Amino acid sequence: MSDPKKLFIKTYGCQMNVYDSERMAEALGGKGYVETQSPEDADMILLNTCHIREKAAEKVYSELGRFKGLKAENPDLKIGVAGCVAQAEGEEIMRRQPMVDLVVGPQSYHRLPEMEAKTREGEKALDTDFPEEDKFEKLKSRPKAKRGPTAFLTVQEGCDKFCAFCVVPYTRGAEVSRPVDRVLTEARDLVERGVREITLLGQNVNAYHGAGKGGDWSLAKLIWALNDIDGLERIRFTTSHPNDMDDDLIAAHGECSKLMPYLHLPVQSGSDRILKRMNRSHTAESYLRVIERIREARPDILISGDFIVGFPEETEQDFQDTLSLVEQVRYGQCYSFKYSTRPGTPAAERPQVDAAEADDRLQRLQALLNKQQKEIQQSMVGKEVGVLFEKKGKLPGQLVGKSDHLHAVYAEAPEHLIGEVAKVRIVESATHSLGGVLL
Ligand code: 5AD
Ligand code: SF4
Repeated sequence: MSDPKKLFIKTYGCQMNVYDSERMAEALGGKGYVETQSPEDADMILLNTCHIREKAAEKVYSELGRFKGLKAENPDLKIGVAGCVAQAEGEEIMRRQPMVDLVVGPQSYHRLPEMEAKTREGEKALDTDFPEEDKFEKLKSRPKAKRGPTAFLTVQEGCDKFCAFCVVPYTRGAEVSRPVDRVLTEARDLVERGVREITLLGQNVNAYHGAGKGGDWSLAKLIWALNDIDGLERIRFTTSHPNDMDDDLIAAHGECSKLMPYLHLPVQSGSDRILKRMNRSHTAESYLRVIERIREARPDILISGDFIVGFPEETEQDFQDTLSLVEQVRYGQCYSFKYSTRPGTPAAERPQVDAAEADDRLQRLQALLNKQQKEIQQSMVGKEVGVLFEKKGKLPGQLVGKSDHLHAVYAEAPEHLIGEVAKVRIVESATHSLGGVLL
């Protein structure tokens, strides 16, 4: 038998891309590909891309530039672009970078094997359709190989909310939920292969409703069904929209033992004027009310969020409203971005905030968010926490894993604890992690 062909995948952007890259590797696994960590060895290079901000999208072209030399050395090397830049820019990519052989959007990657065959015939392959068939079903089920203790599982994809700054409704398409039985089968399969923690993924994961438009499931019901799977110890989900935090989902945070005390709930801005212009369809007050109710259900929950500063027409007063909302919420973790103009989105045509002013706001916001993150990390010192150990740490004899609140925790521990949830007492807080001792 000839040597297997080698596949190098580089993943940018969100966790859903991480999940998608795994599925693409499996799809090409059926064509005899094995993964390699070095692009120099590869017979195919796939860039799984992100279009959310300009910088992310531009990275693709600079990365492709880097691979030019490899293609010159090895004419059999095939280069593919997948993900949201592929969806948004399609043929434009092949025009700008003629060495690209294959362009595949996020809804078509189950067709990768046929596309790969086409490239081997010396043709170009491009597919940015939104096909009718269920791509998850067309993909070969995950091979039974053992895997690490944590996994992502996409349950919902796309978005119908059309925030004025966001490309997701265009690149990922309309909101679709996967059928419950398929999600549960995939979850059981992951657990059989050693997974102890599953993070349910969706651009609007808490809009999950099961099969078909208006299906009668909900994310809360799905979480309760997952809670019954023996061997699964932790459940997380991301990303949620404040308007879809229904009563059952809020209650589950207090009642469902496997659901972890962490909620990523982006608000984007604390100014009602800007929220309206963003088409967010919630106010600062209604967001704060959701947070309050979640904290009533689960007082120790750690809240994380996303912010955009410098959205068109944002004034200093609007920005102050954002700082004030942050003060009220006390975030444990946050992602904040300067507004990036995305062609084709409604906000792209509006008057822009001065770039230096936006930079300054971002710095001030990040200083506050970092302070809050540090304070919350510091407040963990002395506490007993559950840690799911994932791998060896940086020092000999040390393991690293995540606490219930998703803090990275280092502790001296025997290797056989990898894949188990152990009790650890936190003794120190560093910049992005905690140190603990095994109990
Ligand atoms: N500019 C800056 N940030 C953006 N995000 C989405 N679109 C843009 C944009 N055009 C941020 C939002 C979102 C996160 C995934 O990325 O905060 O929640
Ligand atoms: Fe984008 Fe808004 Fe949909 Fe989130 S809710 S994916 S920010 S359009």
